[in-house]
Amino acid sequence: MRLRPLGDSGIMVSPLGLGTVKFGRNEQVKYPEPFELPSDAEVSDLLSLAADLGINLLDTAPAYGSSQARLGQLLPGPRDRWVVVSKVGESFENGESRFDFSFDTTVQVVEHSLRTLNMDYLDLVLIHSDGDDLRILEHEGAPDALRELKERGLIRAHGMSSKTPEGGLRTVEQLDVVMATCNPDYLDDLAVLEAAAARNRGVLIKKGLQSGHVNGPQGVAAAMDFVFSQPGVSSMIVGTINPNHLQANVKMFDSVVK
Ligand SMILES: NC(=O)c1ccc[n+]([C@@H]2O[C@H](COP(=O)([O-])OP(=O)(O)OC[C@H]3O[C@@H](n4cnc5c(N)ncnc54)[C@H](OP(=O)(O)O)[C@@H]3O)[C@@H](O)[C@H]2O)c1
Repeated sequence: MRLRPLGDSGIMVSPLGLGTVKFGRNEQVKYPEPFELPSDAEVSDLLSLAADLGINLLDTAPAYGSSQARLGQLLPGPRDRWVVVSKVGESFENGESRFDFSFDTTVQVVEHSLRTLNMDYLDLVLIHSDGDDLRILEHEGAPDALRELKERGLIRAHGMSSKTPEGGLRTVEQLDVVMATCNPDYLDDLAVLEAAAARNRGVLIKKGLQSGHVNGPQGVAAAMDFVFSQPGVSSMIVGTINPNHLQANVKMFDSVVK
């Protein structure tokens, strides 16, 4: 896949990224079907396939169960072959999400993620919003902590995975990258994408396939066509643990978008 700039961050990303929620968590998720976590061999094969298909972008988070630890153990190839995105603000333990957007916790979580992922830098760290985007951006310590971590060279870029259009717009003003929701059934963030394009901020799309509630290959084609017709989209992060879907999605991107 031909790499695209992630806004003005200096980072180049494949237009399809791989979301790794399903590598590590199968409780309290909104996918259509229950599923077993993949084995180590299945995760390794999926990561090798992603690399072979030209995908360089991986999205993980502390709230995704064992996802980070598995990437730390199983990620193939040299570190700089991958663009690794992680998050701060949400943890998930004993079936429950907890949120902490304070300065100190943000720094600790990034340092912990680096150890778990077995890496000495993260390409991008996003604030994993609890829905109250503006309060986090205006009154919590996480944005300043991420700016400091970037100055220290532990992260290359910062941003927010926003949950409201207002939060997405503020993210575009204050941080390098916004992760927004975009699919044919969710149009609320379209103004965020426009604002990001105007400022040359990076845009990652989540839930482009409506968390799996798409209607077969035609639904996938319609979703990709819709997402990539919007201005400013750097990459669509698609979650999958099915190698056939991974391959089909890259093929679909090539026929619908390229
Ligand atoms: N920061 C946040 O707040 C946040 C929230 C949600 C998501 N995310 C990130 O964004 C990523 C994507 O979001 P998402 O996982 O919710 O939604 P998604 O990418 O829209 O959908 C993933 C679902 O689609 C299925 N799928 C993938 N390719 C398919 C195909 N060709 N045909 C049919 N089904 C297909 C997958 O099932 P199979 O495994 O069977 O392929 C999976 O259940 C996540 O993995 C995560 O990294 C972030």
